Order: sequence, then structure tokens, then C-alpha cells
Amino acid sequence: MIKKIGLLTSGGDSPGMNACIRAVVRTALYNKIKVIGFTRGYEGLIDNNFIEMKRESVSGIIQRGGTILKTARSERFKTKEGIFKAAGTVKKHNLDGIVIIGGDGSFKGAIELSKLIKIPIMGCAGTIDNDLVGTDFTIGYDTAINTVVEAIDKIRDTAESHDRVFVIEVMGRDAGLIALRSAIASGAEALLVPEMKHDMDSLIAKIKKWRSSKSSKIIVVAEGDESGGAYKVAEIVKKHCPEFDMRVSILGHIQRGGNPTCMERVNASMVGFNAVKALMAGHKNEMVGIVNKQITYTPFEKAVKHIQKLNKDLEELIEVLSS
Ligand code: F6P
Repeated sequence: MIKKIGLLTSGGDSPGMNACIRAVVRTALYNKIKVIGFTRGYEGLIDNNFIEMKRESVSGIIQRGGTILKTARSERFKTKEGIFKAAGTVKKHNLDGIVIIGGDGSFKGAIELSKLIKIPIMGCAGTIDNDLVGTDFTIGYDTAINTVVEAIDKIRDTAESHDRVFVIEVMGRDAGLIALRSAIASGAEALLVPEMKHDMDSLIAKIKKWRSSKSSKIIVVAEGDESGGAYKVAEIVKKHCPEFDMRVSILGHIQRGGNPTCMERVNASMVGFNAVKALMAGHKNEMVGIVNKQITYTPFEKAVKHIQKLNKDLEELIEVLSS
């Protein structure tokens, strides 16, 4: 019987987390389950900082970016002492289950916590990077790629007006998924991501061919790419093609903020709703995802094993369309 659950958001914030919080709280209350919202992720669990969530606590938040519960990348939770304190808080509240909204670091934390507590934990994939196994889209990814595309469209106005080459760096610590989709959608001329093998010589050769045919040139680089980032790429290109007027733009944290898209809000609501339903149905230590529009459950151990692989069709698509 699930009567009381804990809820927290952890790791980097992502747009749609609030929609997910709202869905968890409302689904739980609808089923007569109390919700304790811990603030600042695992930090709140360690220090027993919490809010008892009411229906009104989640009013007017579905459209807001960030997370009303706040979040943190907790260093203390990586220590034995921290994790023991967190487990103590879980026991003190007599929780019957926990919902964690976060990315791979948060789920790795959940695996450790689950070794010390008996109650089930369910995860909702919340990260703009989309780097979890067991879901097509993580909460925040769709909004982030739309933000990136909007930014690149604006940058292209300047690129075209000045006949400039722009090297644009987007987020994605270990994954090039933000870069890939936003590059396709913005018609970028080149893409550098950790998942695709590339060498600077072929990039330079490609750039040299652009000269006469294109007025604007956009190179999208994922922050985790082996090239070392946008400034490094720009430096190398400039050395080989000094005639180009070049600029670098690092989009940074604007990619993590803003109102979630419609798709984000719907997906986040579905995932939050199903996390509570899963606890009620006896699921344990799994991430709720959406694959081919179906709700899926992936054990945390598998969810965090992101392999660096891109969709081959999308890879070919960008190669052909940017040629
Ligand atoms: O995990 C999401 C993410 O935005 C990554 O793309 C990025 O590398 C990282 O977080 C930045 O984290 P922080 O805001 O803690 O510097």
C-alpha cells in the first residue's frame, strides 16, 4: 500500500520538470497518497528540508521552466555519510516510495540509495541532454532543441548579412544529441559531435568548398566533442582559411531555461503520472520512459548506460542535406 511518497528534482534543471512535479503531486493526491517534496535534490534529503505538497503547491507551474523544488548536484550525496543521512530521512518520514526527476547522475545516486532503503524508487528522466537509455525524449530535450534552433536562426541573420562563418557551441556533456537535431533543423553546414568520427582536415576541405556557393556558414559543435569546443574549432579554421570573417557563439545556459514546449509538457505529465501509478502497481527502481509513444520501464542500471550512438538515418540526413 502506497500512502506517502517523497519527491525531488536533482542534477541540472530542465524545462518540463515543473510539469512532471505537478503530475506526480496531482496523481498522488488523487489516489489519497501524501507527497513530501524535498528541496534542492539529494541535499534536501540529507538535511531533511521538505515541503508537504498540496494541490495548490503545483498550481500555475505547468508552463514554467526550472523546478519549484529547486535542484543541486550534490557532492555530499556521493559520500557514505551523506547517503546514510539521506536514507535516515527516508525512514524518518515513513515513506512508501520515492520519485526522482533527474538525469544519469541522479539515477546513479538512486541506485546507491536503493541499497540502503527497502522502499521502491521510480525515476522520471529529466535532462536536456537526452542521454538516457529507455526513453525517446527526456524531459527538457525538446524545449532545449527548440531554444537552440531559435538562437541559430537569429545568428544566421547576422551570418548572412556579413558573409560570416559562425561556430556555435551547444550543450551536451557527453552526448551530441542536442547538436544533431538542432543542426538538422537549422540547416547547419557542419556538425561536430562526440559520436561521429571526424577530422579537422576533412572539415577544412569542406569549408574551402563553401566559399563561392554560400553566404552564411554555420558549424554546430557539441560541448563534449573531441575538437575541444567552439573556440578551438574557430582557431583551426581561421588558421587554414584566414579570409573568412569568423565568430564564435556559445549558447550556454539559455538552453536550459524557458517555458517548456507543448510536447514537453505532455510527455512530462505522462511520465509523472505513470511514475506514481508504477509505484502503486509494485514497480521498483526503474525509470519511466516513452518509447514509440508507449510508456516503458527501464531498470536504473540500464537507463544510465548511455552508449554514444546516433540515429544512422539522421546522421545520413545531415550529411546529404548539408552537402
Ligand atoms: O546535464 C545537462 C547539462 O546542461 C549539460 O549539457 C552540461 O554539460 C551541464 O548540464 C552543465 O551543468 P552546470 O549547469 O552544472 O554547469
